Amino acid sequence: MSRWTRALVTGASSGIGDAMARRLASEGTDLVVVARNVQRLQALAEELSEVDVEVLPADLGDLQQLARVEARLADSDKPIDLLVNNAGFGVQGAFVDGDLDREVAMIDVNVTALARLSHAGGSAMAARGGGAILNVASVAGLAPTPGTAVYGASKAFVVSFGEALNHELKERGVKVSTICPGFTRTEFQSRAEYDSSNVPGFLWQSADRVAETALAGVEKGTPRVVPGATNKIAAGSTKLLPSFVNRRIASAISDY
Ligand SMILES: NC(=O)c1ccc[n+]([C@@H]2O[C@H](COP(=O)([O-])OP(=O)(O)OC[C@H]3O[C@@H](n4cnc5c(N)ncnc54)[C@H](OP(=O)(O)O)[C@@H]3O)[C@@H](O)[C@H]2O)c1
Repeated sequence: MSRWTRALVTGASSGIGDAMARRLASEGTDLVVVARNVQRLQALAEELSEVDVEVLPADLGDLQQLARVEARLADSDKPIDLLVNNAGFGVQGAFVDGDLDREVAMIDVNVTALARLSHAGGSAMAARGGGAILNVASVAGLAPTPGTAVYGASKAFVVSFGEALNHELKERGVKVSTICPGFTRTEFQSRAEYDSSNVPGFLWQSADRVAETALAGVEKGTPRVVPGATNKIAAGSTKLLPSFVNRRIASAISDY
């Protein structure tokens, strides 16, 4: 049975977003799929022929293109009752040695776009008195991450913002959940030029498993969802361990 009428999923052209779109379609939820790769979005729309799929290509790092997605969320004609803020990417390497423009572009997508879309979607949902927002953060947002300093900070924003929004919107009928995945088999690592070949198999989850846990979490309105036992242990230890130990662990993982 369909939990939602129509969901807008960002980053639906690959990985976790693609898995979320497929799961939602299999339950009968109509979709608006957003990403830059229009060929992949169109192929997905053709495959998910059991539901109505709108293809909305946009580079979320471009304010004009982002505005089109904000306008779609505000449109009361075919209202969106689930917003999945999933699009994002990582940048690997020591901050001062890297490409600053790429780091700032990451903030544009991981932080600015997520905040603007949450505003557009959240205000429309609050006015209607119902709906939900699912934000994709990371376990990397739970403690500082040397070697991916800006990425970790961008996801720390998502965690803090999402949990505050959960509190603000609960009384107005809107559920907000933030999911913190760990290593997930997608294109994320190759796009970030991160060599994950030494990461042991037991640390990995499939995109579909993450999508399943995330969608179950947002249905309940769980403020923070951490998928998988290993990630739950990692998330718990960031609270228990001294911060210098957390920094050393993150530094060892990213090789910096
Ligand atoms: N995989 C992991 O290990 C992991 C762990 C924790 C958190 N996450 C988070 O999970 C989310 C999804 O990532 P993934 O693992 O599924 O990686 P992925 O396979 O690389 O997918 C990333 C998605 O984001 C979209 N995207 C990136 N930049 C965009 C832009 N400027 N405008 C519009 N869309 C953009 C991509 O679409 P286009 O290229 O077509 O634009 C793609 O659909 C991200 O927020 C990531 O930070 C991933």
